[in-house]
Amino acid sequence: MKKYCCLATMLIATIVLVALGEPDSRGTVQASDRNGAAADSQSGATHDKAAVERSRRLVQLLDNIFKQTVVLVTDKYVHDEDDFAAGSAAVLLFKNISEGGPHKVRLIDATGAPYEPENVPRDDFEKEGVKRLKAGAATYDEVVEQNGKPFLRSVTAVPVVMKKCIMCHAHYEDAKPGEPIGAISYTVPIE
Ligand code: HEC
Repeated sequence: MKKYCCLATMLIATIVLVALGEPDSRGTVQASDRNGAAADSQSGATHDKAAVERSRRLVQLLDNIFKQTVVLVTDKYVHDEDDFAAGSAAVLLFKNISEGGPHKVRLIDATGAPYEPENVPRDDFEKEGVKRLKAGAATYDEVVEQNGKPFLRSVTAVPVVMKKCIMCHAHYEDAKPGEPIGAISYTVPIE
């Protein structure tokens, strides 16, 4: 039990950060590209550029916390294949966060061979995002509208950061250094 306290504290901090707002449903893509704010004018949408930047910074913060947590848990607590994987913890955490509010997070595969068949890019945005990440982008995002409200969708690359990852994902051994084997997919309100 004790060993999970540290993780639990970090995760609670994260949940507090993201557990704001109200539920939403999927909507129409209005602007695209890493320069989503600039692209807004082309689509006729009037999203506040500063607000888009705030959402980008929120995604960066969440991304940093999540990735640091996965690495820390894998390093300190995962010793063999039967241990509860940080990947499993992340999938569960992201599911709970996504059910509780407007912030959606998913851990997805970028290799074509996921551990769990559900963890694959689902829609056009995630598919295009994984393609861009594999082509070398660190992040890919776009501004979308859901129920009349603006959201930032973003995917960030997950590379093989530790040898231990290969213990459970044998095919990660074939990945080139820095190549993304997965991605984290975010949807956060622009406000
Ligand atoms: C102890 C075994 C284990 C280790 C070590 C492990 N994973 Fe996983 N990983 C899993 C399991 C199990 C899942 C599926 C979780 C689920 O869907 O509930 C998973 C899921 C994933 C996914 C989502 C796509 C998929 O394959 O389902 C990614 C990406 C991922 N892991 C990356 C990593 C990285 C990067 C590391 C090293 C930091 C790592 N994993 C270490 C067991 C492991």
